Amino acid sequence: MSIDRVPFITLNRFENGFKENFLSGVTTLFDNTQFVGGPQVATLEQKLSEKTGAKYTVGCANGTDAIQLALRGVDVKKDEVVLIPDMTFWATFEAVVNVGAKPATIDVNRENCHWDIETFKQAVDKFKPKAAVMVHLYGWGSPDTMAIREYAKEKGVVLIEDGAQCFGTKVDGKSLLGTAQIATTSFYPAKVLGASGDAGAVFTNDEELANRVRVLSNHGRTTHYTHGLVGWNSRIGAYESLFLNLSLDHIDARLDSRRKAVAYYNEHLKDLPLKVVLSPDNVDENGYCAVAMIDPSLRTALIDDLKSQNIGVGTIYPGAMSLQEGAPEFLAGKIDNGNAHHISQSVVNLPCFAYITDEELNYVVSAVNKHFS
Ligand SMILES: Cc1ncc(COP(=O)(O)O)c(C=O)c1O
Repeated sequence: MSIDRVPFITLNRFENGFKENFLSGVTTLFDNTQFVGGPQVATLEQKLSEKTGAKYTVGCANGTDAIQLALRGVDVKKDEVVLIPDMTFWATFEAVVNVGAKPATIDVNRENCHWDIETFKQAVDKFKPKAAVMVHLYGWGSPDTMAIREYAKEKGVVLIEDGAQCFGTKVDGKSLLGTAQIATTSFYPAKVLGASGDAGAVFTNDEELANRVRVLSNHGRTTHYTHGLVGWNSRIGAYESLFLNLSLDHIDARLDSRRKAVAYYNEHLKDLPLKVVLSPDNVDENGYCAVAMIDPSLRTALIDDLKSQNIGVGTIYPGAMSLQEGAPEFLAGKIDNGNAHHISQSVVNLPCFAYITDEELNYVVSAVNKHFS
């Protein structure tokens, strides 16, 4: 039977036996009343360190908290300026505001949608920030990651890397999450490594920083009822950890299938007004997102046509951070070259998820090609 729909994303493509293994693990946790902490959390942190190459991993409640833990971990204080990209998910902005600091939005490169070293240097010189949160979007990273890390170090700017979308991504052959000064990720179910609920993690190779983050994530505890810091409760759950542990056994296959989808779109959508954008040459992407750009005047018609054929389409993200209604009150300033806004009006994301079938991919590319024929 031929198909007549392809969702933008679906979470229901699990490997044989995955559900049974999860449910039997849940039974064990339930019987042992292991709901917070315990062996699943310890195993997860160890597995995540092995997979990313980061010496220390601290699980936490979600990806937004992970950024807040990192900001508090490196001691960003009230009213200090933190650079963030103008193209990211709003959580990056919120995290800076929620720790009392002031975000300055810095534009991204129009071609690769990430920070470039020239604009980053300009921003550091202009704002003299305490810290910067570099965001790796779409499952890629900035091709200038290493140069940005070096410049931040030279200028004494603490560089946090929001890797909510880049689990498994490498730049210049190096694991982003494993080689950052401090990096964060989200295990929101729709991420490449998704949990059975909200969860996140912080990664670092600095033992002292890892300890401080762990303490902050658990009410500032130094012992059960002594508190060395004012933190909050951002502990990761045991059921989510179990689900992530089982998912990690399949992560390579899941990422491969996503990368194949991105390659398929690239191969089958040629010479069209819709241009598939690939990750930069020095970036090994994880296939989180299929990204394409189109002239803004043609976007709505394409999206409407695809939707009428039951094809889910995304626009990640449809608005720059500095232009959000909630932004002006908190903005320390911005560098705005119009690129984030341009990307927000041009971007089209095609269906991409683990184990998307050839038939589904073919349904999407046929519909796109037909739209322009
Ligand atoms: C770039 C980016 N940063 C932060 C987050 C926040 O993660 P969470 O939803 O787990 O809080 C997300 C997730 O959507 C994200 O994509």
